[in-house]
Order: sequence, then structure tokens, then C-alpha cells
Amino acid sequence: MKNSKITRKITQGVYVLTTQGGGCIVDAVSRVSAGDQPLISVAVAKTNHSHKLLAENDTFALSVLGEDADPEIIQTFGFNCSKDCDKFAKCETEEADGVPVIKASLGYMLCEKVDAIDTETHTLYIGRMVEGDVFSDERPMSYAYYQEHKGKLTKTQSEQGKTAWVCTACGYVYYGDEVPDDYKCPLCGLGKDYFKKKA
Ligand SMILES: Cc1cc2nc3c(=O)[nH]c(=O)nc-3n(C[C@H](O)[C@H](O)[C@H](O)COP(=O)(O)O)c2cc1C
Repeated sequence: MKNSKITRKITQGVYVLTTQGGGCIVDAVSRVSAGDQPLISVAVAKTNHSHKLLAENDTFALSVLGEDADPEIIQTFGFNCSKDCDKFAKCETEEADGVPVIKASLGYMLCEKVDAIDTETHTLYIGRMVEGDVFSDERPMSYAYYQEHKGKLTKTQSEQGKTAWVCTACGYVYYGDEVPDDYKCPLCGLGKDYFKKKA
């Protein structure tokens, strides 16, 4: 592969995927169909706890992050596991049909799960949007914007108190003393060999 970073130029946003029990930051979101109740897909890594939660729940929500999103939201939902902490205790939410959505977002899409397509590393969950609201008309954060500004959107190594290991394929950062042998990047699915210690 000459340069897999070309995928960063696919225009997509940054969202907080939530369901009962937790959630995570996702960018792999797509509108599948149009109309009043469009189908929306989201690819969730099998290694994420959210994957298990989505398998157990019938509804999920996607809160759209704006460019001025609080970095704490990205930190909480994108670099921690719902198994280890109550992510909802760390940011203000409101309920959409029992699913917590992020108040400090541009709005949300509430979806009823209609399908789950298994791929090698991720499951593509497809939901029908049954409710939605717009909280703000500020600019949505694109994945490209996140990549350009992730220095200020994510905490540094010293703030985390752990070593930062960067996935050389997609830029995802793993925090820990060592990357575990069986670790798979939650974004691109590649293993330990692709991670380099952040200088
Ligand atoms: C900008 C960004 C985009 C991400 N996109 C995805 C994604 O599309 N799918 C996914 O499964 N994980 C994605 N992640 C990784 C998860 O948010 C992360 O692994 C999270 O800690 C999982 O939490 P959980 O174990 O509670 O599910 C992304 C993280 C960041 C920071």
C-alpha cells in the first residue's frame, strides 16, 4: 500500500455513539438511505465494549460533535472503556427514548437497530432513525479537522500519565506502558507491530 492515510480524506464526521450502558467516539458513520426515517450505519470495532452493548440493545444514538466540542468528551468516550468507568457521569446528557445523548453536541439521531453485518474487525450496525433533534447550527467536526487538531483535542502523554503509542496507519493513540501482544487498533484493526512510541 503506497499510503493508507488517503482514507483520512474521506469526508466524515466525529460522533458520540451511545446506547444503554455506555458508548464511544465514532467516525465510521454513514447515511445509507434518505427520507423521513433514513437508515444510518456505524462501524464498531469488536474490541470495543460498545460492540457488546450494541449487540445487547435495540436502540442507539449518534450525537454530532461540533468543531468547538469539549475535548473532555473526546477523551472520555474515545480513550476510555465503558467497562472501567461510567462515561455518562463525566458529561451532561439528556434522554432520548431511554438512550443518553450528549447535551453539548450539535444534536442527535436516535436509531432502532435493523441489521448487523459482520466484517473481519468491525460490525456494521445499521439503524433506522426514528427521532432526531438539532441543538446548534455550529460547524460539525470532520474527521479531517480532528486529525489536524487532535493535539489540542486529546490529552498529552504527561496528562494521561502513561506512554502514548501511535498507530502508524490511522493515527489512533493507545495509552499504556506497552501495547499488548493481542491488541488491535479500534480504528483500523491493525496489531501491535503498527504502533510506534510517540516521541
Ligand atoms: C476520532 C476517533 C474516531 C473513532 N472512530 C471509531 C469508529 O468509527 N469505530 C470504533 O469502533 N471506534 C472508534 N474509535 C475508538 C473508540 O472510540 C475507543 O476505542 C473507545 O475507547 C471505545 O470505548 P468502549 O470500550 O467503551 O466502547 C474512535 C476514536 C476516536 C478518538
